[in-house]
Amino acid sequence: MNYQTILTLLENNIFIITINRPDKLNALNKTVIEELGAAINEVYNNPEIKSAIITGAGEKSFVAGADISEFLTLDATAGEALARRGQELVFDKIEKSPKPIIAAVNGFALGGGCELALACHFIIASEQAKFGQPEVNLGLIPGYGGTQRLTQLVGKNRAMQYIMTGEIFSANDALQLGMVNKVVVQTELLNEAKKILAIINTKAPLAIAKVIETINNFDHTHQGYDYEIKKFGECFSTEDAKEGASAFLEKRKANFKGK
Ligand code: COA
Repeated sequence: MNYQTILTLLENNIFIITINRPDKLNALNKTVIEELGAAINEVYNNPEIKSAIITGAGEKSFVAGADISEFLTLDATAGEALARRGQELVFDKIEKSPKPIIAAVNGFALGGGCELALACHFIIASEQAKFGQPEVNLGLIPGYGGTQRLTQLVGKNRAMQYIMTGEIFSANDALQLGMVNKVVVQTELLNEAKKILAIINTKAPLAIAKVIETINNFDHTHQGYDYEIKKFGECFSTEDAKEGASAFLEKRKANFKGK
């Protein structure tokens, strides 16, 4: 398929999906979300594809979050719809994919970018990777599953700290936290991801699908995701969310009023 904002390549049964808006640090606008959704459908439906890698174009960024320039006009209903569409089309679809989808994080994985990596079955990172959930800087909360998946992976107290401070942390910190499986030099990132998937691709596909489904069902209820979507939407009825997005786009510090 032809895409505008992502690149795809099928190599040795591994489908490599590269988010390709490097001038905007690969931020997830509506087109990227739609196209990622279509690419994930290809993973589900193309029998030539045994597994997939998601990565970002350029040296600097995996994905620097949802596209903040699309936030200015959102109200609570539209904010909730944005989060729900992304979760259904991309994030939940990745998590539930019967074929392994792993993230190769090559730079900034912030906000929706961190959530995209967290939705994958596991994460390989380069030494240049940087993770974080900085939504609070915009008067928002994560909306693509961050409150749920980060908490599952690193535990409640650490998720509280990182989501409330918006702190950006390194690949090695993420390794220590148990968020990423391996950290490698940038030039080896894709090779390392391919090497691991080449091993998995030799295993029985139906067994792999059941591994994914069963591990996903470990102590897992999906109610929290719905709660997050609603609360994310509610943020857009606040003045602070407008201030946060405007301040980012005007390259100034936000002045939050608690309204
Ligand atoms: N949405 C929209 N545009 C974004 C973006 C986002 N999430 N992240 C980066 N960009 C754009 C910038 O506006 C800039 O565009 P411009 O060249 O047209 O001005 C371009 O990408 C490069 O980013 P810039 O901020 O100049 O790079 P930097 O190296 O100074 O800073 C970051 C890098 C990642 C620290 C900074 O871009 C950032 O904080 N991004 C937002 C992260 C975030 O809050 N994500 C969560 C969103 S919910």
